[in-house]
Amino acid sequence: MNDKINSLLSRVEAFASKIPSEVEAFRVEMLGKKGLITLLMEEFKTVPSEQKREFGQRLNALKSRALERVAELKELSDGVAGEATPLSRDATRPGTTQPLGSRHPISIVMNRIIATFARLGYVIAEGPEIEDDYHVFGALNFPPEHPARDMQDTFFIQRDPDILLRTHTSSNQVRAMETQQPPIRVVCPGRVFRNEAISYRAHCIFHQVEGLYVDEGVSFADMKQSILYFAKEFFGEGATIRMRPSYFPFTEPSAEVDVSCNLCGGKGCNVCKGTGWLEIMGCGMVDPNVLRNCGIDPERYSGFAFGMGVERIAMLLYGVKDLRLYFENDVRFLSQFQSAL
Ligand code: PHE
Repeated sequence: MNDKINSLLSRVEAFASKIPSEVEAFRVEMLGKKGLITLLMEEFKTVPSEQKREFGQRLNALKSRALERVAELKELSDGVAGEATPLSRDATRPGTTQPLGSRHPISIVMNRIIATFARLGYVIAEGPEIEDDYHVFGALNFPPEHPARDMQDTFFIQRDPDILLRTHTSSNQVRAMETQQPPIRVVCPGRVFRNEAISYRAHCIFHQVEGLYVDEGVSFADMKQSILYFAKEFFGEGATIRMRPSYFPFTEPSAEVDVSCNLCGGKGCNVCKGTGWLEIMGCGMVDPNVLRNCGIDPERYSGFAFGMGVERIAMLLYGVKDLRLYFENDVRFLSQFQSAL
């Protein structure tokens, strides 16, 4: 018994770790339920009664010394997380910084497009993503069963051919015309859905900003000038546009708009495929049938409409070659875009 007490006492005195986990392990080893000192206390019951007084005193002294030692070391180890120096108390350490979030490039471009048209007096008109056939197609002069509906492959909801995900935000223009009388000047930003295979240049979900201007005497020249203003604001003062005849059921005449390639300055490069031009939007004079459908007198009023894909504009602006990057949420990609808008 004497030897055991002596050897435990020297171990208690020798133990000097300041690492919290080690101090705790030492406490359990010595003073835990099956600890060496605890066991020795058990053994004490078998000591002959004439020796009890001496060993009792020595054992109690050992136990108090061990408790004291553990308490001391715990105090010293406070704030040490497995390291040798108490770093948490080092006031010269740099603080932990929170990385700053940034706006998504699609939001940045969308906000810029909206701000550009806002300077021309346009206001935002929004509407539902789940729409009815009438607002997406019917009112826009797409007759039932007309092949023009195939231009935009549609997602339907629950096999009901009347309820669908909007394929363009022109539906918001219909809603704006139904509820207001001219002058109407609206931009319709939003998410649209088309049943298309996902590739580097197409996605089944993308974003549009469409616009509509209806008033007395609105002409094709007004449309051309407004779009030229937009192109210069967006792609630089040197930008020029050209219009190619096109077809949309809701506009007549209709056109595709190209902007001079901002990468090669019109000389021809791999982005503009050697043509010097980049396609940026569709546009046209609102078909009189559409005005009539929405309760606007086509004899008195005329208007123009345009629509563009935000991902496409963002690709051209930032030189991004794969549209899927915008949907993958890779922070290494997203954190490259900063904007106040
Ligand atoms: N709504 C058309 C589309 O989604 C774009 C467009 C809008 C074309 C307005 C002409 C006028 O493709």
